[in-house]
Amino acid sequence: MSPKEAKKVTTNTLQKMKAAGDKIAMITAYDYSFARLFDDAGIDIILVGDSASNVMAGHTTTLPITLDQMIYHAQSVVRARERSLIVVDIPFGYYQSNSEIALASAVRIMKESGANTVKLEGGEEIIESVRKIVSAGIPVMGHLGLTPQSINKFGTYVVRATENTEAEKLKRDALMLQEAGAYAIVLEKIPAALAKEVSESLHIPTIGIGGGRHCDGQVLVMHDMLGINTEFKPRFLRQYLNLAEQINGAIQQYITDVKSGDFPNDQEQY
Ligand code: KIV
Repeated sequence: MSPKEAKKVTTNTLQKMKAAGDKIAMITAYDYSFARLFDDAGIDIILVGDSASNVMAGHTTTLPITLDQMIYHAQSVVRARERSLIVVDIPFGYYQSNSEIALASAVRIMKESGANTVKLEGGEEIIESVRKIVSAGIPVMGHLGLTPQSINKFGTYVVRATENTEAEKLKRDALMLQEAGAYAIVLEKIPAALAKEVSESLHIPTIGIGGGRHCDGQVLVMHDMLGINTEFKPRFLRQYLNLAEQINGAIQQYITDVKSGDFPNDQEQY
């Protein structure tokens, strides 16, 4: 094994990180150039999220994106990978109906993109699919709490599992996912105390997005944390840059330079 291979993040690395109390950093990416930057910076996991439906395609939900489109994004991200683990969302409609279809979708993602693992939303309802995919040798990341593919059932993006019944179901679902062979679980927008309890009850890592500081890792959507998408300001989001403002300034300056004849100058032409 080359030293570069040895440094690659695998699902095993994540189990060891949890056991050692080392936090896991995950971010979304959908194209080669950003994935390259994130991998170079040392991110542990890159998620090719179905949030591509929102941030790349401009849809209001994650539901419209297709499996072919997810594979296209995943292929671009995988080409940038040196070290990070690449996880790809199986999009809405490509695993819910039965476990055969779920496995076929997971196999297409793995075979056609070269990604390392897939992610599915839900607990008990999809547990057969998780078992089948895992038994085919494909690692599965779960996703509980606010599951955006079910937005039409929830009707709103508010915090989930604040009531006892839903919290109890989430705890059962987390254990079932672990039992079915999932190697990690995303906990989205649930009370921090519940995320802490779930994280402590599992030997696999939890990755929070609005799940508080006791999760074993954190994930953010790149467009939100880099300030490309500035309209989305949930409490859980920490915005590290204001790229929208910087890009706007750069483009305005470029327009001014072109229109005034300042660009290109003598050094910028042949
Ligand atoms: O699609 C996505 O970006 C996600 C994250 C919100 C975890 O699933």
